[in-house]
Amino acid sequence: MAPLSTASRVFARSAAQAIQTSSKTSTNTTARLAAVASSSFSTSASRNDGSAATFKSPFRGTSKSDQAPDFSHYLSKKSGNANALFGYFMVGTLGALSAAGAKSTVQEFLVNMSASADVLAMAKVEVDLNTIPEGKNVIIKWRGKPVFIRHRTESEIAEANAVNVQSLRDPQADADRVQKPEWLVMLGVCTHLGCVPIGEAGDFGGWFCPCHGSHYDISGRIRKGPAPLNLEIPTYEFPEDEKLVIG
Ligand code: FES
Repeated sequence: MAPLSTASRVFARSAAQAIQTSSKTSTNTTARLAAVASSSFSTSASRNDGSAATFKSPFRGTSKSDQAPDFSHYLSKKSGNANALFGYFMVGTLGALSAAGAKSTVQEFLVNMSASADVLAMAKVEVDLNTIPEGKNVIIKWRGKPVFIRHRTESEIAEANAVNVQSLRDPQADADRVQKPEWLVMLGVCTHLGCVPIGEAGDFGGWFCPCHGSHYDISGRIRKGPAPLNLEIPTYEFPEDEKLVIG
């Protein structure tokens, strides 16, 4: 225990000396800082009379702490209306510029997102009906799918209308499937699993799907086989007598 207490005493003495030295140093530093501050204050004080100042301070000449400084030096020399007018002009201009920027951004975004010209061109297909003789089928491609166009004869129209609609799997009158009785337009996609049926074939004189044996009549209605629905009718119109537009 004795050597340990001696070492402790030596350590305590060293620490005390270090603290004294540090205290002297900090005292010197503090004194130096005080001198610098004092010189700063004295410089400011020498400028308080305004003789050496290079700017017009609003605090100049105020001796009482409860006295409001004079800020009139900063007031606009223009009239109040002129200032308000300038404010309105700036707000209006910035608003107009912001609105124009927002409109341009939204417009660019919509233009980029909309379909391009070649896609729009594919969205509609125009067909010259003069090229399709009576009693013949034509298959065209529209949006990647086959479309059947049949120029029906009088006897085919009569046959389509003679069917008892209630006996059909997907009851639909022929008149509800055509805009003009002589023109039957429908998608050439079997409603079973999507094969392309063969025209002028099957038990009902219409279309036959060889994939699983579905028979469609001359109005494209399912009559026999696994297909659940009639062949689908696309959107189309006749802008002129002999012109058909699909899509
Ligand atoms: S896909 Fe046509 S019958 Fe199955």
